[in-house]
Amino acid sequence: MESVLEFQNISKYFPGVKALDQVSFQAHSGEVLAFLGENGAGKSTLLKVLNGDYQPTDGKYLLDGVEKHFQSPHQAIEDGISVIYQERQILLELSVAENIYLGRMPVNRLGFIDSRKANEMAAGIIEDFGLPISPAAKVKDLSIAYQQMVEIMKAYSRENLKVICFDEPTASLSDSEIESLFKIIEKLKSEEKIIIYVSHRMDEIQRITDKVVIFKDGRYVATVETGKVPEAEMIRMMVGRDLGDIYRNLERNKKIGEVLLEVKNLSSDYVKENSFILRKGEVLGFSGLVGAGRTELMRAIIGADSVRGGEIFLEGKKIRNRSPREAMEHGIVLVPEDRKLQGILANLSISHNINISMLDANSSRLGFVSREKEETQALKGIQDFKIKTHSPDKKIVELSGGNQQKCIVARWISTNPKVLILDEPTKGIDVGAKSEFYQMICNFAGQGLGVILISSELPEVLGLSDRIIVMKSLKIAGEINAEEATESRLLSLGMIGEVQE
Ligand SMILES: Nc1ncnc2c1ncn2[C@@H]1O[C@H](COP(=O)(O)OP(=O)(O)O)[C@@H](O)[C@H]1O
Ligand SMILES: [Mg+2]
Repeated sequence: MESVLEFQNISKYFPGVKALDQVSFQAHSGEVLAFLGENGAGKSTLLKVLNGDYQPTDGKYLLDGVEKHFQSPHQAIEDGISVIYQERQILLELSVAENIYLGRMPVNRLGFIDSRKANEMAAGIIEDFGLPISPAAKVKDLSIAYQQMVEIMKAYSRENLKVICFDEPTASLSDSEIESLFKIIEKLKSEEKIIIYVSHRMDEIQRITDKVVIFKDGRYVATVETGKVPEAEMIRMMVGRDLGDIYRNLERNKKIGEVLLEVKNLSSDYVKENSFILRKGEVLGFSGLVGAGRTELMRAIIGADSVRGGEIFLEGKKIRNRSPREAMEHGIVLVPEDRKLQGILANLSISHNINISMLDANSSRLGFVSREKEETQALKGIQDFKIKTHSPDKKIVELSGGNQQKCIVARWISTNPKVLILDEPTKGIDVGAKSEFYQMICNFAGQGLGVILISSELPEVLGLSDRIIVMKSLKIAGEINAEEATESRLLSLGMIGEVQE
């Protein structure tokens, strides 16, 4: 049966942000639609509106002519609409079959849950999908890719599935896992589902989608047929955002000095032969798609991943970082992307979090730091970074995301680095904390540090960097000076591998 999904003037406002602004378009069954747009264009928000995670501020959407109002993703799934997010939504402690039939496990005549029956039913779907997993396997024992497949099977197991959406599903998948996902998408397409596929990867879009829906700044721009419009043209349609005053108002004492760090042909198990320089007092942006290898290159520099070739020079002297500790001793520190996993010690106080570098914590070489010295350092951090708290003895988890992030930066700054590497430092923090952060970055550079800023937010790299390096497919694709940098130049380098106007 032919089905149609229709968005009519959907708007969604968050405090201070128009995430979606009067979005209207249609999707039809048997069609794979790509969503293309910069970070923050509103793609995820639209999917969250669609499946009842968010309520639209205005507008409506209809499936097969019937207006829908979902109060939760659960309701949406019951009605045949499923969104697969990047973050897994499954229960790791349960089995594959239990996840697929969660909340509707088959029961036997006595009313008891019939696990055997569930396993049999799940085995049928697993076979349809051609996957080598057992229905009784615990989900936590599966790879990330298979965990994602379980989510897809869960949606697929509903006979009434009509719409299935994937929000940047391949970021953490290997090539062969991507192939299995594409086979599944082909299958869903042949069964006349409506498929929405959010991705920045042009090669994927060209391969599996029929149409591309382009978004900019919360607005719908156009729908084009895949392959009919040149990639550079699609990129042009998604750019053109205003950078905003937030960057123009920053104060920067700009004194760019001699070469501080030189990386020559550096390779690890992940990145291949990358070279670049960083000067004193410089903010060097690193742009590129998620998965382009920016984090991996930095991890090789600080010795968190093994180096397989190449050289690193700091102030002209060749150095080797066999561990992040050695890098720190040389004056190179990395503030990692995932604050929750690699940054904060959630159960400890703000003071401890500022004082203990993770390296000390991990190497059990704690030594004895005087309580007084710790207190002084913590108070200095709180003051220097305007961390909003009444006491350094509060637990760090009680702070907002932005203030937690400041504590982590304070910790690394207390080691007196020469090179400060920030990996997506403003991810998940609010607008006010962001602008304070930007000023901090300017101040660090003003004090003569070399700052490397990895960011997937184009306005952020454009607004802060003196020079921008773009990575694509684990290699540096090119470099652009701030004066010549535009969103479309950065995007075309990162997405196509060459600068196109
Ligand atoms: N829960 C939220 N609260 C406040 N702002 C949000 C929320 N979710 C998204 N936004 C904002 O809405 C805009 C669109 O975000 P998003 O839909 O995630 O974009 P995309 O998926 O295209 O990268 C961004 O400016 C983002 O910061
Ligand atoms: Mg998104």
